[in-house]
Amino acid sequence: MKKQILVTGGAGYIGSHTVVELVAQGYEVVIVDNLSNSERSALDGISKICGFYPPFEEIDLTDYQATEHLFQKYNFVAIIHFAAYKAVGESVQKPLAYYRNNLVSLINLLELMNKYGVDNMVFSSSCTVYGQPEKLPVSESAPIQKAMSPYGNTKQISEEIIQDAIVAMPQLKAIALRYFNPIGAHESALIGELPRGVPNNLVPFITQTAIGVREYLRVFGSDYNTPDGTCIRDYIHVVDLAKAHIIAMKRLLENKNKSSFEFFNLGTGKGATVLEVIKSFEKVSGQKLNYKLVERRPGDIEKIWADTTLANQELGWKAEKTLDDAMLSAWRWEQHYRSTLQKKQ
Ligand code: UD1
Repeated sequence: MKKQILVTGGAGYIGSHTVVELVAQGYEVVIVDNLSNSERSALDGISKICGFYPPFEEIDLTDYQATEHLFQKYNFVAIIHFAAYKAVGESVQKPLAYYRNNLVSLINLLELMNKYGVDNMVFSSSCTVYGQPEKLPVSESAPIQKAMSPYGNTKQISEEIIQDAIVAMPQLKAIALRYFNPIGAHESALIGELPRGVPNNLVPFITQTAIGVREYLRVFGSDYNTPDGTCIRDYIHVVDLAKAHIIAMKRLLENKNKSSFEFFNLGTGKGATVLEVIKSFEKVSGQKLNYKLVERRPGDIEKIWADTTLANQELGWKAEKTLDDAMLSAWRWEQHYRSTLQKKQ
């Protein structure tokens, strides 16, 4: 029987980009998604890029039996686990839903990996585990700070769960990838970020404003201690990010990992302010963006960007695309998505 890679949340934003990179590199992929925060149309986009539909299972990973059925049906060698809720604000309103969804699905997967002898997991973590770091750029050895939201806490607890599981299941190996701010879309514009309702994140809000779906962008805070007063983040192109997952997975499959649980920052190593992101967008799109400087958003940290030395040295991975590349691809995706919506109406 052929060996497959399970991509949970494979219809989602980072998941879909990782699926197409895996397929491009010759891996057999099984996508699992409960479509709670993704669209079936993402699978059509994937199929157009890949030339076929990778197997898709609409399963909720908090359902142990359904998940076990999946392990019986396929022969997984590795799991790339994206499936999780990810909205910071929503997690404050619905903490228990976040803990149940993000933690129970992980626990189910780890139990079944143990039972069915699947030894390799790449886990989708976040720079949110660092809070506002004292030293910038932030490296993997920076102290984990108390989470600012239930969402952030699920990422911290998930890393701890994996760590503890590895002690009891010595055959298990995992890599946690701590993402900074993923943006942009596949160059084909056939897949991209598809937020439901009003976007929480900056870049989809910018592109939706430019295309006329939103009236104006609110820039949250202009009195931060940064060169132009707006927050700094490390924006990384989603395709660069997707590629790092395959490298991490190969590292596990080839037993090149240096410990059973490794952590890597995935960012560009460079920060950009909100106004710099807007300028980049205006430059590559030729559009003037309507925006207003407003009050700070509660819970936002002032500035963070990644020390990527470890990922560069150990994974041999480096972000290649620029902020301009990412903003142009996000804009192309927004235009393509809106034109397909119009055709459907
Ligand atoms: C945060 C988390 C990240 C998490 C993500 C999920 C940190 C450092 N990052 O990202 O781990 O995965 O949420 O959603 O904790 N902004 C505006 N106007 C808007 C939207 C955003 O000015 O309409 C600004 C924000 O104030 C921030 C920047 O844009 O400075 C990026 O915001 P966003 O895209 O929401 O991501 P983070 O909050 O950095």
